This record gives sequence, structure tokens and C-alpha cells, in this order.
Amino acid sequence: MPAALQFSSVSKRYDSGYEAIEGISFTVEPRRFISIVGPSGCGKSTVLNLAAGLLTASAGRVEVFGEPLAGLNRRAAYLFQQDALLPWKSVLDNAALGLELRGRAPDAAQDWLRRVGLEAFSTRYPHELSGGMRKRVALAQCLAVQPDLLLMDEPFSALDIHTRLRMEQELLDWVGTAGTTVLFITHDLEEAIALSDEVLVLSAGPRSHLVGRYEIDLPRPRPLLDLKTEPRFAEIYRAIWHDLRGEVIRALGDHPGGKAHG
Ligand SMILES: Nc1ncnc2c1ncn2[C@@H]1O[C@H](COP(=O)(O)OP(=O)(O)OP(=O)(O)O)[C@@H](O)[C@H]1O
Ligand SMILES: [Mg+2]
Repeated sequence: MPAALQFSSVSKRYDSGYEAIEGISFTVEPRRFISIVGPSGCGKSTVLNLAAGLLTASAGRVEVFGEPLAGLNRRAAYLFQQDALLPWKSVLDNAALGLELRGRAPDAAQDWLRRVGLEAFSTRYPHELSGGMRKRVALAQCLAVQPDLLLMDEPFSALDIHTRLRMEQELLDWVGTAGTTVLFITHDLEEAIALSDEVLVLSAGPRSHLVGRYEIDLPRPRPLLDLKTEPRFAEIYRAIWHDLRGEVIRALGDHPGGKAHG
């Protein structure tokens, strides 16, 4: 079976002339959960938008299940960094949106609302929900289409810590059951380690590139509530932070008032 996603020496130069990423190569094999971490503004969303087909590479190749990606990535569902529900549509209609856009029957939406615990809210509107509930609707919308590839851009970073932990656990459980392939973007190294099979570290921009790859050998299923206090977790964290730390400092150094000390 071909890789779900393959980047080969991919670079992206924006029209402004800014060279966001340069020479990035990685592979997402089917049923794997891969995270990309990196400092703010380094090019994480750029990578995900390239994978979604929302951007085109200036150099290099993006392949999806063995085919060169041309236009939108139809094998993927995409969970944005920002809230992406349509305010004028009910919870149920929002959950069904992905199915509708693909010309499929919307029936599965109700079932996914039940799975994310929002069956009783199907006739409500997004403004009547909490942030965590809205995120669950967005997730139901993505999972309902049973995508071959799930692309997630900092999906939980706006949530409070407890809601976030719960959402992360639910995501792991759903993905584990369905065997979904995931490319997950975050600036949070703990989150990346807790969820992933492999963590890729991006350098600070411009011309951001991969500075480290780490296989995460923590056993599954992973009870997240206790995972972070395990010695092996701390060991992995230290090893990756060694790479990431320098990039975070470099990224801060580019901003006035953010000069790193020591
Ligand atoms: N359309 C664009 N035109 C020009 N430059 C852009 C464009 N989009 C993004 N950039 C620049 O490319 C760099 C990478 O942006 P990107 O959004 O990929 O970073 P990120 O790692 O996702 O950041 P964050 O952590 O804040 O979400 C940034 O310096 C940004 O200003
Ligand atoms: Mg981003």
C-alpha cells in the first residue's frame, strides 16, 4: 500500500517572496499518527495547507496515496486552527457538511454526533455551545466522512486544559478504533508526544526545514491522564526538547523584546 502522504524536498515561497519552508521530506504511512512541532510562525500551517492542496509547492513533490497531488486533497479531511463551523447552520447540519460537500448521504452525521456526545444538541446552533462542544462538532464533521487522511492544525490549542485532555483522549480512541491516518500540527511538544507514533521537529523560519524525527515507542492504548508522569515520557520529552529548544529561542530572537537570554 502506498504512503498516505509523501513530501519529497518540498519548498514553499509565498508571492511576497518569503521563503517559508525549504526541502522538507517526510512520509505518513497508513494508520500512523504523525505530529509536526515547531516554534510559532515557522511554517507548520504552510506544511498542512500543502498537504490539503490549499497551497501548491514552489519546488518538490507532494504525493497522496502514490498519486501526485493536484488541486484539493480529496482523500483528506481538514480540522482548522480556528473554529470553522457555519453559524447559520444547526449542529446536525454542520456535522453533515463534509458528507454533503462530497455528495454523500448525510445520515452518518447523527451517529457521529452521538459518538461525540452531542446527540441532544443536534438542533442547536454553534453560538449556543461551549468551545469544547464546537470542537467536537467540527471533529464529528471530519470523522463522519471517514477520511483516509485526517489533517489537524492545532485543533485543541484554544481549549482549556481539561477539555483539551478529554478531546485528545477521545481523538486517540476514535482514531485507534477507525484506523485513521493523521497528520497533526502543534506547538505543544507534550501533546505531540502523547498522541503520536512519530514526531517531526521544524526549525524556525525562514526556510524552515526538519531538524529532528523521533519514533515514539510509548505503548498503546495510552491513558493520557497518567501518561505524562511516566519516566519514559519524560525521557522522550528531554530528547526532543534538546532539538526544539534552540529553534524556539531562534524564533523568539526574531521578535523585538523577545531576545533570548543565556
Ligand atoms: N500568504 C502568505 N504570504 C506571505 N507570507 C505568509 C503567508 N502565509 C504565511 N506566511 C508566512 O510564512 C511563515 C509561516 O507561516 P505559517 O502560518 O505556516 O506558520 P505556523 O508555524 O503555522 O505559525 P503559528 O504557530 O503561528 O500557527 C510566517 O512567517 C508567515 O508570516
Ligand atoms: Mg499555524
